[in-house]
Amino acid sequence: MNQNQLKQQVALAALEVIRDQLYKDTIIGIGTGSTANFFIDALAELKFDFDGAVASSEASAERLRAHDIPVYDLNSVGQIPFYIDGADEVNARLQMIKGGGAALTREKLVAACSDQFICIADESKRVSVLGDFPLPIEVLPMARSYVGRELVKLGADPQWREGVKTDNGNLIIDCYNFMLDDPLALEQRINQITGVVCNGIFAQRPADLLLLGTAQGVETIHS
Ligand code: A5P
Repeated sequence: MNQNQLKQQVALAALEVIRDQLYKDTIIGIGTGSTANFFIDALAELKFDFDGAVASSEASAERLRAHDIPVYDLNSVGQIPFYIDGADEVNARLQMIKGGGAALTREKLVAACSDQFICIADESKRVSVLGDFPLPIEVLPMARSYVGRELVKLGADPQWREGVKTDNGNLIIDCYNFMLDDPLALEQRINQITGVVCNGIFAQRPADLLLLGTAQGVETIHS
């Protein structure tokens, strides 16, 4: 199986996990990226079985609407039962690095409002220690240079993702060479830098369930 087939496989597995838990008033949290896109396309099959979705990006919202799935503002829905999203890296504790698609802030926010975070990923995303994938950090535009200097002090090699603007109108700095042996401590430390909007470490709010696509089938891993 190629990587896209593995992504599709886990998207379908996630659909099976939630299928029996959908009600007419259920609102589902939807992530961003190619794996989330497979899930959105699969979810269309069940669109009459639930109310709608909250999306973690404009791109996902557009894809949901293209399937005639109603998209709600997070402010109008309160707590939601599931959030389904991919990851750039995930470890055995279901902590993740996310934000390769620049949607990390809204992803973290929708995840925070969800009872269950279901991570869907192909096996290339599984790591023993997070950090090979450059850590994305969303910053206010005027804070780019200052935050970069502060990240160097923390031992990182920050690089501005030029030409990218987030859905919130901010910039992304990708951090190479970060020591990520204590993801929770680093997540909190980076958040203390003035001008940082959000960082792509998901340790404070890890996934609850990981569906991992492998050549041997889907592995189900609980936190
Ligand atoms: C988006 O900002 C990211 O967090 C994605 O969830 C992550 O990059 C996974 O993307 P793919 O599903 O495309 O691999």
